[in-house]
Amino acid sequence: MKTVFIDCSPKKKLSASGFIMSLTGLFVLGTKKKEKLRTPADNERILNEIADADNVVFSMPLYVDGIPSHLLPFLKKMEEFCRKNNKELNVYVIANNGFIEGKQNEPLMQNMENFCDRSNIKWCGGLGIGGGVMMNVMRILIVVFLGIALLRTFVSIINEGFFFPIGPWIVYGKQILEVLALGCGIITFDIWLALCINKKKEYGKHYTRIMLPSFVFIICADLFFTIISVIQGGIFRGWFSKKKPTVM
Ligand SMILES: Cc1cc2nc3c(=O)[nH]c(=O)nc-3n(C[C@H](O)[C@H](O)[C@H](O)COP(=O)(O)O)c2cc1C
Repeated sequence: MKTVFIDCSPKKKLSASGFIMSLTGLFVLGTKKKEKLRTPADNERILNEIADADNVVFSMPLYVDGIPSHLLPFLKKMEEFCRKNNKELNVYVIANNGFIEGKQNEPLMQNMENFCDRSNIKWCGGLGIGGGVMMNVMRILIVVFLGIALLRTFVSIINEGFFFPIGPWIVYGKQILEVLALGCGIITFDIWLALCINKKKEYGKHYTRIMLPSFVFIICADLFFTIISVIQGGIFRGWFSKKKPTVM
């Protein structure tokens, strides 16, 4: 069984789609091929991979309540390819969005179902995830907490001469569990999706979210985007940014 995973986020790195796609891949058996779809130059290569595949998993962000537009030319080509070759294929979709409610991905799921219908391939369902940005926060936290644990171990060795102090690592273990608790809905639905892929079964449509109360999520998301804005182009990108918009 061959499964092609397609990360459809236009981000070169640190995409939530890529992260959740890799997490799903951990639980999928058989031959796995990971692809990145950002530009039309990727289309042909990915179609060649799909030619002998049994399953395709699209992992994508929600853009303006729908499918990101850079994906549409690929879907058009894939439709032609599947119809022409009478391709038998199971299609699963993972969509993540910025707002906290995963249900916001419903129109995207319907579009993908229509695409499968037009292409004569099997729509097997999808997982919609709300609060996608928090997946990046989660992985950043895991790395930051690891750095703190290493630092505390180093300081302890210097000060007290312990060969390997266990304290910082117990704290790190607890911190990891707390971070995983935030993503417990995503992880559970994701493993379920992987099990359906393995059995070539229909998954249906399911929606989940990051396990944070909405008012806490809004504060975290605001902080995250402010920090990213400052790092990537000045305070409030577009207002005081050093980068000037290009005139077309
Ligand atoms: C152009 C654009 C449009 C977006 N539209 C929506 C939207 O309609 N609803 C929503 O909840 N999030 C929206 N988002 C937020 C993304 O879905 C969210 O940041 C997602 O986690 C990005 O995933 P990625 O890291 O895989 O690219 C939009 C983001 C961009 C850049």
